[in-house]
Amino acid sequence: MATSAPLITLVRGDITDQQVDVIVNAANSSLLGGGGVDGAIHRRGGGSILADCRKLRASHYGRGLPTGRAVATTAGKLQAQYVVHTVGPVHQPGLTGEAERAQSELLASCYRESMRLARELGATSIAFPAISTGVYRWPLADGARVAVRTVREAAQAPLLDVRFVLFDDAAYAHFEQALVTAG
Ligand code: APR
Repeated sequence: MATSAPLITLVRGDITDQQVDVIVNAANSSLLGGGGVDGAIHRRGGGSILADCRKLRASHYGRGLPTGRAVATTAGKLQAQYVVHTVGPVHQPGLTGEAERAQSELLASCYRESMRLARELGATSIAFPAISTGVYRWPLADGARVAVRTVREAAQAPLLDVRFVLFDDAAYAHFEQALVTAG
């Protein structure tokens, strides 16, 4: 299917404030919450999100959600229809060649799978955090490059309103740069 050019917007702020169809969570494989984006989404979204996550663990993901995959839950009290939870890779410094390509592909998969799932849910707008660039230590410049390149490649109608919500000025600057340079 021909892809369409997405409208990519950078937002400097808190992802839990976004009014979109889908808010993406930078989760861990347990799906049972954590800090950063994960903590903010569960705190602001309320207990119904965790209840849905527990059901997913009990039904399909007994051993946890694998890295690079995405699942959807209610958005609870957030101004969205769904939260899509995806598990980013923990950055391994010093990898080269195939190993480096493989870990970058896992990060790209988070964006690609989240968009695929959002499309299946009928979403036209989605808000992403800078996945893996916090606790999981992914360098911001490369994390932004992978994010922008993957979203541009994976975008398909009607999911064409894509927002990257950046929590600090450094992340925002790296995404601005990636919009200019990422293929
Ligand atoms: N809104 C938008 N971005 C945020 C917010 C927020 N409320 N809080 C943090 N961020 C930013 C961070 O500054 C970072 O740039 O999101 C990016 C991702 O950081 P983390 O949330 O730490 O996610 P990640 O690096 O993918 O690590 C995931 O952290 O919180 C735990 O349970 C989570 O174990 C998982 C791990």
